[in-house]
Amino acid sequence: MELSIVGSGYVGTTLAACFADLGHDVVNVDIDEDIVESLNAGAAPIHEPGLDELVERYAGDRLRATTDYDEILDTDATFLALPTPSNEDGSIDLRAMQAAADALGETLSKKDGYHLVVTKSTVTPTTTEEVIAPRIEEASGKTVGEEFDVGMNPEFLREGTAVEDFLDPDKIVLGANTDRAFDLLDEIFAPLVERADDPAVVRTGIREAEMIKYANNAFLASKISLANDLANICKEFGVDSYEVLEAIGLDSRIGSSFLAAGLGWGGSCFPKDTAAIIAAARSRGYEPRLLQAAVDVNDQQPLRMLDLLEDRFDPAGKRVAVLGLSFKPGTDDIRESRAIPLIDALLDAGATVVGYDPVATDNMREKFPDIEYTSTAAAALEDADAALVATDWDEFAALDDEFDEMRERVVIDGRRIVTRRDGLDYESLV
Ligand code: UDX
Repeated sequence: MELSIVGSGYVGTTLAACFADLGHDVVNVDIDEDIVESLNAGAAPIHEPGLDELVERYAGDRLRATTDYDEILDTDATFLALPTPSNEDGSIDLRAMQAAADALGETLSKKDGYHLVVTKSTVTPTTTEEVIAPRIEEASGKTVGEEFDVGMNPEFLREGTAVEDFLDPDKIVLGANTDRAFDLLDEIFAPLVERADDPAVVRTGIREAEMIKYANNAFLASKISLANDLANICKEFGVDSYEVLEAIGLDSRIGSSFLAAGLGWGGSCFPKDTAAIIAAARSRGYEPRLLQAAVDVNDQQPLRMLDLLEDRFDPAGKRVAVLGLSFKPGTDDIRESRAIPLIDALLDAGATVVGYDPVATDNMREKFPDIEYTSTAAAALEDADAALVATDWDEFAALDDEFDEMRERVVIDGRRIVTRRDGLDYESLV
């Protein structure tokens, strides 16, 4: 099929490359000329395992990029994969989506036949029907449900495994309001259903599809926060939280994933999406207390780490190594990384912070230009009074003699990754 994708960020590029791999002809529309050029030259604008290979394989063939919306005219359906960042109050900023809907509407005014527009971005319930569709109608002069349809297809991919997650999903959620839209969505996703390992296909309403994405992320984020809450209780009683969480994960009703207790969740989705659905709920007069508590527990974990340090000494003037700056291992993304509030708290307490991360240092330098960074964990530990572990990079499990170079061998482990050894004043956050 002929498909167009507006937006070539994380989701848009992955979607474009994977659709090409599934045999579709894909055109990716973006306003950024550099990204368009890079894609056409066969290079992915983001780093994601397997993505470069796909882009290189299909660029100039089944995958092309353009800044020209008119290239959408030859396609059967358009996926909107634009960013929906947070406003101050946590609600989502729809400006990029609105601009794309206007531009798409204007383009569709020139189209003779039917077109399907699918929201891929994470948007709060009713956005596709009440914001996107009317803007397309207004700009195109066409009627939704007749000359064009809207649909919603949320994406559940994780950073670091985006291609793998897209090509082998647990579920494919298709939201639409007309049979015609469902038929087209079925046709688009048929090659994926055939290739993937028996994914569930959920056909549902548009606002349900929008909500499923938030419910999914809210549930996972809350699961981690509940694990952290329980782990904090365990700590008060000298109970090994990891043994407890591993045991409860064996109950198939609970499941073992997303029970790794520690410093909490960061990244581009969980914090933004929990804030957005809380703000959306409040806008309708409902106070989501449990979800707010999940956010509160998450905010509290980095501060608990500082408390453990202060139990040993006043951090003012002390040299403290923060090991791990990215929001999770395997990425240089620092968005909402738990290392950020941790470093903030350390700086507030007057500590001298030394940061180390295998790949995320340059990004963190933009956030904290004035702290010291090292190119190895060993260098960060040298003469440090304490090491706080914020991200579970595998290499931290292999640290050993490097701790001997510390001034005081205090290690506070926010991710239970460090291998304990004699001579360390080691404490796990949970
Ligand atoms: C997440 C969702 O998993 C994905 O479905 C959605 O599309 C986008 O958001 P991502 O942000 O890439 O994906 O990261 P994920 O691997 O889910 O981890 C999120 C955060 O939770 C990380 O900070 C991680 O360190 C933390 N986490 C995860 C825990 O603290 N404990 C766990 O058990 C699992």
